[in-house]
Formats: sequence, C-alpha cells, structure tokens
Amino acid sequence: MSPIVYLNGEYLPLEEAKVSVMDRGFLFGDGVYEVIPVYQGKVFRAKEHLQRLERSLAETKLSVIQKEEDWIILFEEMIRRNSLETQDLSLYIQITRGAPEKRDLSIPVGISPTLFIMATPVIYAVEATEVKSIRAITLPDNRWTRCYIKSICLLPNVLLKQKALEQGVEDVVLVRDGYLTESSSANVFTVKDGVLYTPPKSDFILGGITRDLIVELGEQGAFDCREQEIPEMELLQADEVWITSSTREIMPVTEINGKLVGDGNIGPLWYHVTKHFQAYKAKLIAN
Ligand code: PDD
Repeated sequence: MSPIVYLNGEYLPLEEAKVSVMDRGFLFGDGVYEVIPVYQGKVFRAKEHLQRLERSLAETKLSVIQKEEDWIILFEEMIRRNSLETQDLSLYIQITRGAPEKRDLSIPVGISPTLFIMATPVIYAVEATEVKSIRAITLPDNRWTRCYIKSICLLPNVLLKQKALEQGVEDVVLVRDGYLTESSSANVFTVKDGVLYTPPKSDFILGGITRDLIVELGEQGAFDCREQEIPEMELLQADEVWITSSTREIMPVTEINGKLVGDGNIGPLWYHVTKHFQAYKAKLIAN
C-alpha cells in the first residue's frame, strides 16, 4: 500500500502528491524542514521540535500553522492514516515559500507556502547489543554561518557526506577554525576520562533535540556532560565519540581518519547514556 502524505491541506497517496516546478523550494531551496521521531504513536519532544521549526520559519520569513495543537492534529492524522500507531517512525515536515508566476529572487507577496508532511517507518537499535558503530573522517566545515536554521539547502551537507562515502566510511565530523561543529546530519559528542563533551549551541550548529535531551539528562545528574568547545586534537584523543540525531539516536563512532577511537569498541559511557535515553523514551511510550 502506498504511504499517505499530507500536501497543502490534503491527504494523498505518495504518487499523487505533486508540486509545481515553479515552487521556490525546487528553484532556490527556499524553505525549511523538521524531522520528528514518533515512538509507538507518541510524538517525541513535540514542543521542542515545533519551537525549533518556528525559529527556522521566523528566520526565513515564512509562516504557516500558528498553534502547536494544530500541528499535533496533523501529526496524529498522518500516523492514523498510515496505520503506524504501534510503530516507530519519523515525521518529515517541509515548508517552502510556494510557487509564484515568475522566477525572481525577491520574496513574493501574496503566495501561499507549500506544506508537505510524510511519515517514514524507522527501525531504531533499541537493544544495545544490536547497535552498530560507524567510521568517520574529519573535514573542514564549509557550510554557511546560519546552521541553526534547518534549511532544505543541504547541498554542502550532501557533498560532505559523499566525500566520506567515497573514502569508504559512513560520515564526517566537521571542523571550523580548529573546533568541532557537528556531523553532516547529526550533532557530535566526545568522551574523555568519563566526562561527556559537546560543542555549545552557536550559529555554526543545528541545536539538535536529541543533543539537548542528553544535555538535560546530564543536568539531572545521570552523568557529567559539559557544553564546551572541542578542539580537533581532542577528537583524535577521545575515549569515545558519538553522533546524535532523531533518526539515529546515539550512534557510536569507533574509527576516525583510519584510527580507532579508544580501543575501537563501543565505550561504557555510551551504554550508560543510552540506558537513560531509552528509559526516557519508555516513559513517553507508557504515558
Ligand atoms: N538531521 N545537525 C544537523 C546538521 C542535522 O541535520 C541534524 C538532524 C542534527 C540533529 O538534530 P536532531 O537531534 O534534532 O535530529 C544536527 C535530521 C535527522 C535530518 O536531516 O534528517
């Protein structure tokens, strides 16, 4: 059965959802997006994801649905129409500026934005023993300086990730002016002597909702987590390295630039923090 997607007020089978070639998302990448995990029908950190989406919209002078309740109604309807109430999935929400008559960089007045939502089933590695690790390379972060906006203009990210794939590894850790920023579509954490570090939020990273939850769990006393600039040298000397995102949760990185991270195994703090993260999820599912 074809997945049902939402497009501008309609629920449609995926192959029937069509957007104009004049849409500024298509022509200019003029739009923003959001990715929200849903665990067994429960939307994960909806408020935080919607706040981030609102910020992306405001920064790009876009406006669509105003009220949190109205978004939630849409999300729940998407889950229901796709019969995904008992599965884990990610909701992809994209808003572009819409389709004016003329191709012109100036922001047009009086056109409606295009709102698109799809639901994609995701298999999360719930069991620690099943968890895979990835390998990464470091690359200079050559993206723009407004990375806090979740823009659909992902060409730099696409090319950075492709460089990693061409070198036979799965992803990148980006470095700007000697300090770590993030990965191609995830935040980055390092561990040294039992302490967890992640770069502070800035214009150069996307403030990840997964990242923020880990910082919050640390603040509650579950472990020692510090938001601190991480020099590139410290990445190469770290005991553990992880990347985090809504679709990968907490993913260990066990090799960087061809060298093992620590002893090359998934480290003890990863197991500890993952336990707390999964417990948080289990509470959400149970409520
Ligand atoms: N990406 N940094 C970047 C550049 C990202 O694209 C993402 C997420 C993150 C992590 O944010 P969060 O924990 O809120 O998912 C950090 C999503 C998953 C994507 O583009 O598909």
